[in-house]
Amino acid sequence: MDRQPELRELNFERRPPEEMQHRAADYYELMARRRTVREFAPDPVPPGVIENAIRAAGTAPSGAHKQPWFFCVVRDAALKHEIRLSAEKEESLNYGGRFPQEWLDDLAIFGTDDVKEYLDIAPALIVVFKQNYQEVDGVRHKNYYVNESVGIAAGMLIAALHNAGLASLTHTPSPMGFLNSILGRPKNETPILLMPVGYPKAGTKVPDLQRKSLSEVMKEY
Ligand SMILES: Cc1cc2nc3c(=O)[nH]c(=O)nc-3n(C[C@H](O)[C@H](O)[C@H](O)COP(=O)(O)O)c2cc1C
Repeated sequence: MDRQPELRELNFERRPPEEMQHRAADYYELMARRRTVREFAPDPVPPGVIENAIRAAGTAPSGAHKQPWFFCVVRDAALKHEIRLSAEKEESLNYGGRFPQEWLDDLAIFGTDDVKEYLDIAPALIVVFKQNYQEVDGVRHKNYYVNESVGIAAGMLIAALHNAGLASLTHTPSPMGFLNSILGRPKNETPILLMPVGYPKAGTKVPDLQRKSLSEVMKEY
């Protein structure tokens, strides 16, 4: 049986080529300034900014429009501290031998270790969960391309936060199952990112990284 989708008019603005070129260049300039920050100021974030960034993330495309994501925003100091303690427990195992030597060598330039002070200091932590399946009235429903869909949404979230003037850290103190228990999330969800969000601490330095050039990441046919 064919199901007819309900259709509505597409809201699409066709722009003059020059304006498109400017917008593309401006957006690249904006995004080129985004950096992962590992030292935060404790200053609170203006109301609504994180919420709208999450709304923007929620506009991401997703397999069969299942929107298989969930975002927890943690501002409570006691909860942030509980998350820090659990993250540090996992990271001390990671840095203490669970990561292979090659991984530790690759991390050396970042000077990261198992101390995660920023989980206390950043004014907000956003935890991004993927929903491996959905359960409605006890019945399991499939989600499709979950990793791809949530990865796209997470990228849009990072871009939206940066566009609003906030810094973030894409953090993965894996395994992160402790976030389900601390935040009371159901078993169909798996945390994929634990993101401190806020303003960079004054004077923060970041690794002097080079990004791949266009010719290294693109080939035209
Ligand atoms: C999936 C993923 C996981 C990451 N996990 C961590 C992490 O646990 N700790 C950390 O300090 N940085 C982490 N990073 C940040 C990367 O180190 C950072 O994005 C990379 O060095 C490039 O720097 P930039 O974001 O400033 O361009 C992660 C990034 C990604 C995409």
